[in-house]
Amino acid sequence: MVAPSFTRQARLLFVDPDEEFCSFIWRDYTEAGGGAGDTNPVPVFCDSLRDVQVRLVEPRCEYHAIFVNPSLGDPVWQAVLRAAHRYCPGVPLYLLSERGLRLRQSEADELGICGIFKKPLSYSKALSASMQVEGRTLEDEARVDARIEAVGTPEAARPRSHEHEAESQNLSEYMEVNLGAIAGAPRSHFDLYVQLSSGRLVRVLHAGDVLAAERIEGYRQRGLKALCIRKVDQEKYLSFCDGIISGIMKDDKAQVSVKLSNISKYGASTLSFLKSVGIEDATIDRAVRYVEQTAQVVEQIARSSEDVSRLIADVASLEHSVAVSTLAALFMRHIGGMNPALIATVGLAAFLHDVALVGESPEVQNESEVLMTPEQLIVYHAHPDVGARMLARAKGVPEMVISAVGDHHLRRRRGGFPVERATDEVNRLAELIGLCHDFLAAVQRSKVERGFDPVEYLSATAPKSFSEPVVDAFVRTFAAK
Ligand SMILES: [Fe+2]
Ligand SMILES: [Fe+2]
Repeated sequence: MVAPSFTRQARLLFVDPDEEFCSFIWRDYTEAGGGAGDTNPVPVFCDSLRDVQVRLVEPRCEYHAIFVNPSLGDPVWQAVLRAAHRYCPGVPLYLLSERGLRLRQSEADELGICGIFKKPLSYSKALSASMQVEGRTLEDEARVDARIEAVGTPEAARPRSHEHEAESQNLSEYMEVNLGAIAGAPRSHFDLYVQLSSGRLVRVLHAGDVLAAERIEGYRQRGLKALCIRKVDQEKYLSFCDGIISGIMKDDKAQVSVKLSNISKYGASTLSFLKSVGIEDATIDRAVRYVEQTAQVVEQIARSSEDVSRLIADVASLEHSVAVSTLAALFMRHIGGMNPALIATVGLAAFLHDVALVGESPEVQNESEVLMTPEQLIVYHAHPDVGARMLARAKGVPEMVISAVGDHHLRRRRGGFPVERATDEVNRLAELIGLCHDFLAAVQRSKVERGFDPVEYLSATAPKSFSEPVVDAFVRTFAAK
């Protein structure tokens, strides 16, 4: 087998809430000489759908394989697979399993899963397993050979025979698939096309066939960086995946959408983080129960609000709502003088604060300004006000919740946004949600920046942006553990 030549940005993505496992993979990577100057794929870790979505759309990154642990909970892990098919079509997908996984081989095949690995799995094993090209028959190789032969080099003027021409030559109907991304996939779910130097598209592979590493290397040597697939094929495949996922979940209405009845399933990453920093199980359980109660109120509101219904039908949004509500529940225990009505309001504001981000691009949904285009920044900076207007139209949303949603990105000393409303004093409820937001962003940063401590970081930076009682609640939550 020809060893693929990795680019500097090549990555292996592990989507797993298990911190210990991620540290183990990282140790194995660095002990094997990974790091500066090394061209092996860098392991990258995520533990939520939102985080995965934004990683997958990051420019200049090439994923060599993606490993997903279903312990993320239903339907989050399935939604992660779907995001991988959407944003990185062709990248080999593997499942990580701790205990028995109820998944038939045929379902795994149809979902584009190339293999299931039992943990613990080392970095080197993950890398070598993802490079295997087993299951490719000689016949497959010969057929691929024949087609590539027909294409020749990208510089060649045209294919040998008319039958290889793509049905449509409209370039806007196609999207590129990075060559490195499809290097380890056992078979393609899509017809694959090559664009010749003349601009014409030629089909080189039928869906279901294999594209061997040798062929891919051959393309690279001829100067090709990507193949193309038809956007319509990708959409069809995504709907097909939804059907399979809904079948696996044994629920007609499930698809990749949602129920509020089992809300704690969306908080796997937050709960595992809280456990890892030593928050007691009983405290976490209380917070989870509180989020469950809040979800019941949200369900009522959804009856009169299309916007809120869309929020609870979107896995990534729901995951974020649960994370912020869980943190808010923990912090508010340490803010004195809050009456029960106010406590119920906190949960609702935390749950609904990003209602205006539903359906936006991953960069905007993930609230990472550094990754946004100027157009995306405009949408992002408007979301507190848009969200407040959406909630004002719904029945049963208290005025305090509406104003907290509108102000949740304002910071003290005229920081944050919307800038027109900059003020020295921000309402306490909006501040609490703002602190949860900043803390989650710091937790996310700690997944990429080894050694970065989100609690330490927030303890040092929060006093600049938030009032003393809110900062104090944060510090006491983690000091009290
Ligand atoms: Fe927000
Ligand atoms: Fe948020």
